[in-house]
Amino acid sequence: MKYEIKINLAEKSKISEVDFNNLPFGNFFSDHMFIADYKEGTWQNFRIEPFHNLSMHPATSAFHYGQSIFEGLKAQKDAEGNALVFRPDRNAKRFNISAERMGMPSLPEGLFIQAVEEIVRLDHEWIPNGELSSLYIRPFMMAVDEHVGIRESDNYTFIIFTSPVGAYYSAPVKVFISEDYIRAFPGGAGFAKCAGNYGASLLPLRFAKEKGYDQVLWLDGIEKKYFQECGTMNVFFVINNVLITPPLGAGTILDGVTRSSVMALAKKQGIPLEERDISTEEFFRELALGNVQEAFGAGTAATIAPIIGVGFHDQYFELPPIETRTFSVSIKKELFAIKSGEIADEFGWMLKIPVTEKV
Ligand code: COI
Repeated sequence: MKYEIKINLAEKSKISEVDFNNLPFGNFFSDHMFIADYKEGTWQNFRIEPFHNLSMHPATSAFHYGQSIFEGLKAQKDAEGNALVFRPDRNAKRFNISAERMGMPSLPEGLFIQAVEEIVRLDHEWIPNGELSSLYIRPFMMAVDEHVGIRESDNYTFIIFTSPVGAYYSAPVKVFISEDYIRAFPGGAGFAKCAGNYGASLLPLRFAKEKGYDQVLWLDGIEKKYFQECGTMNVFFVINNVLITPPLGAGTILDGVTRSSVMALAKKQGIPLEERDISTEEFFRELALGNVQEAFGAGTAATIAPIIGVGFHDQYFELPPIETRTFSVSIKKELFAIKSGEIADEFGWMLKIPVTEKV
């Protein structure tokens, strides 16, 4: 089904104001945004407008009670200049998983994908070149009832804007294992991409940064023993030639699109893969024995981010040098080749948007 989307074009593009050779993550925004309203039990009023600020009532529900969810996906260009969006169907599905957990209405997956497609087609000139750069696509939904009181909102707004970005991490990352703070518990909302999960991570992140780390590596909340994720990315280890990543089972870890893609590529490349719990005890034991070959994060913004060091209590542990990282390098290479259309998309992951077509 095709949705009718009204288009109001920006009078003048802002693209000439942006230096595409210097794209810090998240600082620049393309010319247009997609907006839809949820009112009287239905999504309506689909429109693309020039990128603009929102005017909000101070009692807007999302500000107070946190009914706010988001997604992140990326577009690259292929050699002909067509836009290629990576796995938007996965983001559309996960968006509704988050919506359900937060008591928000689901959004038709077809509408999510069509809106992504049209906004990217319209602003395709904003897609930067190069492996480290892309057009980051940010869909989000928020509760917009103008009301004080804890209840599910009746009205919601869904928006997509896009942002040309460079690398999220400009260097290999150091992560600090948190025991004092817990990101998610079974039965909580750890699997949802809801704003509160990120808000609650900021104070522990500040403490980690004060110690010289880039990110927090979260442990499970029950035993404080098993690795979970990093908040900005899922986590992988290579130990004794086996790729290991924590399982999603307890609902405390985000079901990352890059995570699932890394796993699919590992299977394809014949890399032994285990989706299982891995404890701090096992990790440090194997590290001391010299069996830990790699650790890396996987996320849309972060892509594949090598982890170069791990902090635990007052100790810092250096991991093997980046030049020795054969597993993650080979996965990253194939992933980029698929995303940029250099090799055939045998998994059917890419949404190709011919840029010659008019909206
Ligand atoms: C993403 O990877 O898309 C996220 O939403 C995480 C955030 C670090 C930007």
